[in-house]
Amino acid sequence: MAVLNKIKEQSNKTKEKYSQKYVTPEEAVRVIKSNDRIYIQSGCAYPQRLVEAMTARATELNNVEICHLMVFGEAPYMKPEMEGHFRHNGFFLGGNTRKHVNAGKADFMPIFLSEIPKLIQHDTKHKVDVVFIQVSPPDMHGFCSMGVAVDCTKAAVHVAKYVIAQINPMMPRVHGDSFIHINDIDFAFEFEQPLQELPGMHAEKDPEEIKIFEKIGQNIADLIEDGSTLQMGIGAIPDAVLARLTDRKDLGIHTEMFSDGAIPLIESGVINCDKKTLLRGKIVTSFVLGSHRLFEYIHENPFVEMRTTEFVNDPFTIARNDKMIAINSCLQVDMTGQVCSDSIGYNFYSGFGGQVDFIRGAARSKGGKPIIALQSTAKKGSISRIVPHLDEGAGVTTSRGDVHWVVTEYGAVDLHGMNVRERVNALISIAHPKFREEIEKAAKLRNFI
Ligand code: COA
Repeated sequence: MAVLNKIKEQSNKTKEKYSQKYVTPEEAVRVIKSNDRIYIQSGCAYPQRLVEAMTARATELNNVEICHLMVFGEAPYMKPEMEGHFRHNGFFLGGNTRKHVNAGKADFMPIFLSEIPKLIQHDTKHKVDVVFIQVSPPDMHGFCSMGVAVDCTKAAVHVAKYVIAQINPMMPRVHGDSFIHINDIDFAFEFEQPLQELPGMHAEKDPEEIKIFEKIGQNIADLIEDGSTLQMGIGAIPDAVLARLTDRKDLGIHTEMFSDGAIPLIESGVINCDKKTLLRGKIVTSFVLGSHRLFEYIHENPFVEMRTTEFVNDPFTIARNDKMIAINSCLQVDMTGQVCSDSIGYNFYSGFGGQVDFIRGAARSKGGKPIIALQSTAKKGSISRIVPHLDEGAGVTTSRGDVHWVVTEYGAVDLHGMNVRERVNALISIAHPKFREEIEKAAKLRNFI
């Protein structure tokens, strides 16, 4: 209790000492000028109150570029009346931004997550004028934590002309490279607000889909040995895998992100990070996307080490973890093993994120396994995701040179070291049975088999 009181007292003293930095959100956003570039901390850290204040100034501003990774909920600067005032340039698209990109009202930048910090810090064409962050209150030493998302935001904080912070007591205080000193914040305001959760966390799942994910999860789990270190990408598959690892021992985590699905395995001791060959004893991650339970779990938890994506996603860093298992999803795979994860035909869907970073890192890791996982079909079973050729306009995310394991509910195949004939046959064997003949016919037509 004495310690708690001391912390509170010190925190109030810090606030007093830095009182000149405390303004209203409306005052803070006055530093924004036309033609500025703004970087917004993303995911569950999205500073909603600050964005609201910025958007209210729309009519005074022109051509302000708004950059971020995936954000949830409303993105008010994308409303039709904001055209000409704000334009979004997305590094990773979500449900609220992709329709604007595909309508030509916003932009998408294909880029590896490992390389965004470098772009922000060293490329003068991409200078950041203002960065918006949401942080925990300053501690007794004046340090605020960026909490649920360190990712590329730390890089933006280093270079931005102005750092504006929404100080939220609900933001967890997280260990690792998550801290920013109040000295490095130009304007701050306190605003208590629940963090946004990952959408769909509490949604009912389709029972048929659950069965498919269970099979995919099992096929992946069969590839995971005791002592492995895991990366889990975004989507429903990672949680299905984690649910099937309850009998493993000494698993570790080195991942750009994780969600609630990891908590039961951590609490039961399956994930203990004891056998990790890099940062042993620590879960290494760069952001979390999940529920309030997850945010509470990482708060003041020395087991969780948050680092920037420049470090976490560097394939050479990843490869320093022996038995590195990278699990990522995709939208389509062609019969030679080219993987599309960011677009559906000409429509951009998400982004590269860390998929290629981790596929390459796991390929270099001693005993590592890069895995691409997908349901064999989409649109309620009406189309195959394993196809003779990618849809017109679809981009290659993971190339056929990078691809190793591909897993569906029908099995797992390792394409690495296979020639095209072998790959085609392997991929047909894990396609949905009703589409196998069609793929075989197309392969024969091209003399692939
Ligand atoms: N053709 C047409 N539509 C397709 C399709 C295809 N081949 N494949 C999927 N879809 C549709 C689905 O039916 C679904 O539609 P719905 O929302 O109307 O149900 C939608 O596209 C999303 O597919 P789904 O498989 O449910 O996506 P997901 O949420 O599991 O995410 C990725 C999968 C590939 C989009 C996601 O993992 C991603 O963006 N990956 C790239 C980046 C990455 O892996 N980063 C690493 C960690 S962040």
